[in-house]
Amino acid sequence: MQELRKSGDMVDNLLAQTLAAGRKSELPEITLIDEIDDLARDYARRHGTEPIYVSHWDPSEEVIAKLAGLFPEFPRRSPVPYTFSYLLKRRPKHWPRILEGLGFSEAVIARGDVAAQAFENGTSSISAVANWLKVVGIKRVVLLSPYYFAVPYNLRRLGLTVREVYLPRINGQYALPSDLKIDPSEALWVTHPVYNTGVYSLEDSVSKLISIADNGSVVVADESLGVPPSRLASALGGHQNFIGVYTPHKAICMNGMKFSMVVYHPGTGDTFDHWSDILSGGLSLSAIAATEHFVRPEFTTYRDRFWEILDETRAWHSGIISKYSNILSTDVGARGHFLSVYVPALRAELGNDLLFLREMLERTRCTVIPGIRSGFDPASGFSFRVCLAQDSAKFRGALESLYGYLANLVTTEESSRYESSQARL
Ligand SMILES: Cc1ncc(COP(=O)(O)O)c(C=O)c1O
Repeated sequence: MQELRKSGDMVDNLLAQTLAAGRKSELPEITLIDEIDDLARDYARRHGTEPIYVSHWDPSEEVIAKLAGLFPEFPRRSPVPYTFSYLLKRRPKHWPRILEGLGFSEAVIARGDVAAQAFENGTSSISAVANWLKVVGIKRVVLLSPYYFAVPYNLRRLGLTVREVYLPRINGQYALPSDLKIDPSEALWVTHPVYNTGVYSLEDSVSKLISIADNGSVVVADESLGVPPSRLASALGGHQNFIGVYTPHKAICMNGMKFSMVVYHPGTGDTFDHWSDILSGGLSLSAIAATEHFVRPEFTTYRDRFWEILDETRAWHSGIISKYSNILSTDVGARGHFLSVYVPALRAELGNDLLFLREMLERTRCTVIPGIRSGFDPASGFSFRVCLAQDSAKFRGALESLYGYLANLVTTEESSRYESSQARL
C-alpha cells in the first residue's frame, strides 16, 4: 500500500504559514488551474484564437445544442419562503422516490434504515460529512486517492488526520489496495466512480467494503459523479457505518440546477439535519426543482439523449487512442462524460510543469487538467482528464494533435527529458 506524503504536510504547513503571516490562503490546486488559465489567455492573445480546454467540466455549445428542448423548466412557484432542508422530507412520496432513484433498495427505505439530508451541491455535502466525522469523534480518515480536491481540505481544517492511499491501477484496472488496513476507529473515504475516470470497478470490491464497515469503520462513498442508481448504495445502504454522497445531475453534466444528498443510517441521530443549518442554511428553488426533476421522466429522457451523444464521442475517442495503443491508454468500461488518459512513459510531475504545459499548448492548442492535481498514482505516468461532453469539431482536431504530439514525445530522442522511471503499464 503506497501512501502519499505530499498534501497532508503541505496543507497543514500552508495553513499554519498563511495564518502566521496573516496572508490570504492560496491553495495549490486552484493556483494550478489559474496558471493554466493564464497560459490559455497568453496563447489567445498571441494567436488570436482560443485554445481548447479538453478537460473542461461543461458541455460544448455543440453538445448543448443537441440537448436543446430537453432542459428542465424552472418551476413556477414563489421564490419567497425559506425552505429548510428537512421540509423536503415531509413530502412522503417525493422523498423515498429520490432515494430509490439513487439506488437504495425499497426494502431498506421501507424499514426506515436510511435517512438523508439534502444540500445545494456536492461540496456542501462533503463539508457536512467531514463535520459529522468530527462530531462523532473520528480522528483519522484513510482517503483513497484520486479524489475531489475539496475532500482533504474539509477534513484537515477540522483537525482530522488524513492518510492518503493510492488506488493502484494495475494492468489498466483500478482495485482496492490488497493490503488496505483500516482501524475500526478510522473512516475510509472512497470516491466512486474512481475520480475523473468513469470507472466503476470498485463495485467488484463491495464485499470488502461491507467487511470494513462490519468491522466498525465508517465507509464514506463520494458518489457525487456517479451515474444513478448506485450499486454501492444498494449493497451498503442501511448499514450503520455507511454514508453516501449523491449529486445526480452532475452525472448528466448539469451543474446550474442540481441538489446533493447525504444518505446515512438514522442511528447517527439528527446531526446532519441540525448541522445543515449551521453549515449551509436553507435550500434554493434551484435545488428543490432539481429534486423534482430527478424523479420525473424528463431526467431519464435527458440522460438517455446525453449518453447517446457521449457514446458516439466515446467510439470516436477509442478509435484515436487505439492508433497509439502502445503509448496512450484509457480505462476499459468507463462510463459518463469524464475519462482519464495515461501516458505511462512520461513523468506524472509534468502535470505541474508550466513550461511543459505551455510547450504542449503551443504545439497542440490543448489545455488539460493533469491527474497529478487530483492525486493519481504517479506510477500511471503523465495523465489528464478528457471531458467527452466537450465534443466539437475543434475538440476532435485538438485531441488528435495532442495525442500525436504525446506519442511523438515518447518515441523521439527528446523523450529522455520527460520520461518516467517508475511508470508501469
Ligand atoms: C467526486 C466529486 N465529489 C464532489 C464534487 C463537488 O460537487 P459540486 O460541484 O456539486 O460542489 C465533485 C465536483 O466535481 C466531484 O467530482
